[in-house]
Amino acid sequence: MAVYIVLLGPPGVGKGTQAKILAEKTGLAHISSGDLFRENIKSRTELGQLAQSYMNKGELVPDDVTIAMIRERLSRPDCQKGAILDGFPRTPAQADALKQMLVDFGGDVDAVPYITAEAEVLIARLSGRWTCRANGHVFHVRFNPPQKAGICDLDGSELYQRDDDKIETVTRRIQVYMEQTAPLISYYRQAGKLIEINGDQPIEQVRVSLSKALERWI
Ligand code: AP5
Repeated sequence: MAVYIVLLGPPGVGKGTQAKILAEKTGLAHISSGDLFRENIKSRTELGQLAQSYMNKGELVPDDVTIAMIRERLSRPDCQKGAILDGFPRTPAQADALKQMLVDFGGDVDAVPYITAEAEVLIARLSGRWTCRANGHVFHVRFNPPQKAGICDLDGSELYQRDDDKIETVTRRIQVYMEQTAPLISYYRQAGKLIEINGDQPIEQVRVSLSKALERWI
C-alpha cells in the first residue's frame, strides 16, 4: 500500500530540507508545490505566468490550478510507492481535494508531521537561504553553508536568492500561512494524523525527530 506523508509548517521552517532527506531515505517521491510552480515559471508555461503573479506578492496560487497540478503529479509512475508532500495542501479546500484524489489512487494521508518554529527563526532562515538554480538544492549562509560560496555542492550550479525571500514578501507569506494554512493544524489533529515536531533545532536533530515519529510508515 502506498504511503502519503504531508509536511505541514510555516514558510522557512525546513519542510523542503527534510522532505529531500526523507525522500532519499525512503524512495518515496518528493512533491513540492513551490518547486513545481518554479519549474513552470522557468519554462515560461501559462501556469508559470499565473503562479508568478501570486508568488511575487506572497499570496497563494488559486486552489483549482494548484489541485490540478498536484493530481497530475501524483498520477506519475514514481509515486506508486507513495509521496512526501511539501507545501500542499495549504487550504482546507486543498486538503479535501487531496483526500478525494488519494481515494482515487487507493490510499489516504497517513501522517502529517507539523514542524514548528517562531517567526524570528523563520525570518532568519529565509533571509539567509540560497537555492540552486539547476535542481532547487537548498543552503543557508550560516546554518548550512555550501563549501564554495555561490556554488551548489551537489551539482555545481549557481546559487540564487528567491525573489519571495525579500523581507516584505516573507512577512506577507507568514501572514497568509496564519490565515489560510494554520486551520489545517486542527483539520489533521481531529483526523488523528498530526505529529508535532520542534523545528527550532539543528537540521540533523529535526531529521532524527521526524524519523522516529514516522517509524510506523517508513
Ligand atoms: P514554497 O516554495 O512551498 O514556500 P514555503 O512553504 O513558503 O516554504 P519554503 O520553501 O520557503 O520553506 P521550507 O519550509 O521548505 O524551508 P527550507 O527547507 O527551504 O511556496 C512558495 C510560494 O508558492 C507560496 O508563497 C505560494 O505563492 C505558492 N504555493 C506553493 N504551494 C502552494 C499551494 N499549495 N497553494 C497555493 N500556492 C502555493 O529551509 C529554509 C532555510 O532554512 C534554508 O536556507 C535551509 O538551509 C535552512 N534550514 C532548514 N532547516 C533548518 C534547521 N533545522 N536549522 C537551521 N536552518 C535550517
